[in-house]
Amino acid sequence: MLKYNQRNKFINMSSTTLNRIVEFYINEKKYFAREGTSVALALYNNNYKKIRKSPKLKTDRGLFCMMGSCQECIVNIDGVKKLSCISKIKKNTKIFI
Ligand code: FES
Repeated sequence: MLKYNQRNKFINMSSTTLNRIVEFYINEKKYFAREGTSVALALYNNNYKKIRKSPKLKTDRGLFCMMGSCQECIVNIDGVKKLSCISKIKKNTKIFI
């Protein structure tokens, strides 16, 4: 199926991976999400809203800007600290909070 996107280009919707449901892990517990959604959205949808502590004040921190600038959403994704709002869910992604 072809669809017209906002940049006036056709995209092939049948080749996108957004419709595929994959498993991923948060603190070694299995969850499911659509492949290609952001890790931040997957965390939020599964009630992980407090995802880290402020290093100085030790207060709970969570998602804020959702565009990669505030760095409030840093989590350990597959062994590397990454911004969850700009990282994508892939099959068997392992997230540690
Ligand atoms: S929520 Fe601000 S960088 Fe991810």
